[in-house]
Amino acid sequence: MHFKNEKHKIIIVDFGSQVTKLIARRIRELGVFSEIINIKDLTKISDFTTIKGLIFSGGPSTVTKKEFPTIPKKILSKKIPILGICYGLQLISKLYGGTIKSSKNRREFGRAILIKRKKSLLTKNFLINKSQSVWMSHQDAVTKLPKGFSIISSTKNSKLTIIENKKKKIYGIQFHPEVTHTDNGRQIFKNFLFSICKVNKSWRVSSEKNRLIQEIKSSVKKDKVICALSGGVDSSVVALLINKAIKKNLICIMVDTGLMRKNEFKYSYNIFKNKYKLNVRLINASSVFLKKLKNVIDPEKKRKIIGNLFIKIFEKEAKKFKNIKFLAQGTLYPDIIESKSSSGSKTSKIKSHHNVGGLPKKMNLKLIEPLKELFKDEVRVLGKSVGLAESLRNKHPFPGPGLAIRIIGKVTTEKVKVLQEADHIFINELFKHNLYHKIWQAYAAILPFKTVGVMGDSRTYEYTCLLRAVVSEDGMTADYFNFPKGFLDRISNKIINGVPGINRVVYDITSKPPSTIELE
Ligand code: XMP
Repeated sequence: MHFKNEKHKIIIVDFGSQVTKLIARRIRELGVFSEIINIKDLTKISDFTTIKGLIFSGGPSTVTKKEFPTIPKKILSKKIPILGICYGLQLISKLYGGTIKSSKNRREFGRAILIKRKKSLLTKNFLINKSQSVWMSHQDAVTKLPKGFSIISSTKNSKLTIIENKKKKIYGIQFHPEVTHTDNGRQIFKNFLFSICKVNKSWRVSSEKNRLIQEIKSSVKKDKVICALSGGVDSSVVALLINKAIKKNLICIMVDTGLMRKNEFKYSYNIFKNKYKLNVRLINASSVFLKKLKNVIDPEKKRKIIGNLFIKIFEKEAKKFKNIKFLAQGTLYPDIIESKSSSGSKTSKIKSHHNVGGLPKKMNLKLIEPLKELFKDEVRVLGKSVGLAESLRNKHPFPGPGLAIRIIGKVTTEKVKVLQEADHIFINELFKHNLYHKIWQAYAAILPFKTVGVMGDSRTYEYTCLLRAVVSEDGMTADYFNFPKGFLDRISNKIINGVPGINRVVYDITSKPPSTIELE
């Protein structure tokens, strides 16, 4: 694990909630390092001295069944403060002799109002008025208090929504303080960390730079590293970080898949070659990618094909040099967790991100992934400290499989060109109207059907372009962006007039969940 040296950390035991990552984020935002692990990894920990608190996440399981995911009992004897959230509360209650029932009458989804029953360290400055609004998502409820615990708050439907065992420093909450729908949920974490676990605020991502550089130096030694450089924030930060550690022994490979945004590839290549003076090799593989993607419709197949091809190209390039032992990638923490469903926790897999899920089983290069414990916004901060230009640092995220997953259905050269033009118009207009930096991610996509239109006096039969723009904190949840009046009309006009092949423009007004940010 990367952050071995952290003196104080909080461990989040993942029981499979889709929002477990948000717990880790909230804690890091408060200046404390946190790590998500599954039950299997929890059983492997032998030294608990740096662990100042444990959080049990929510999850899809129920303790009302005969078999349910649980923690090894010895963990409870470590005297480490525990906070259980949702399933975590139910598990704590079960382990200490409470009763949990599953019933439609007791379920709560959405907002609920807490009723204060008792003062607690956990709820200081949180339960301050009578209508504290929280976000609930549960079907099971604790109906009988476990031994040694007391009730801190209730709702109309659930008698036990916050419970505590002050002496043992064990707390349980039924709602989700990690989601923004819970008003002031951050305060719960603040109280747990600083009043209950008594941790120090010692985590700052910018101060990770030197440690990461040292770590790269000592693992790579005199060997060579090949780096997959796409020009996106993540791989750019990785390249600059590794360049600082091993200089000439870093060989960056930029693979032109032909699936990038218009002009983007040339622009990034020039910056890395001329501004940062990196050792960059350019590989033009667009025809190979398009050939392999021919007639492929299934999104997961597309992702796997692209991921595998990337690695093959790297391995082929690596063979041209001596001593290449490592492949560097800009894998992030959410990529790891989202692709990790098989390792013990139950988070269901939504998509294989190409830099994780698409990897071939047998690889001849060892992986270096210096960002694999970081969230996107943390990478941007790190980017600043390694000197990455603002224009690259604050670029919208772009998925590894590129435009292939924004051309729904079959990918063809013709569609790529059409999409690049439409997307270019959209993004340029966002910059022109000072909207680009207000949006987490924006793009154009092509839908897999043609519709009839009329231009001049002629009938047209062309593609539909879908525009997507979302606001988000980290890509895990997102809301569609509300454009100022008239903006979308203008874009639609510009695209229809400027891009032959498109005769209809639609705007996607779904959030994540229930949708995802990318269409495939
Ligand atoms: P979804 O579509 O899952 O996307 O809501 C969440 C964020 O992840 C990006 N994304 C990817 N990034 N390789 C990447 O590097 C991928 O395969 C990939 N798929 C999705 C997506 O653009 C959004 O920012």
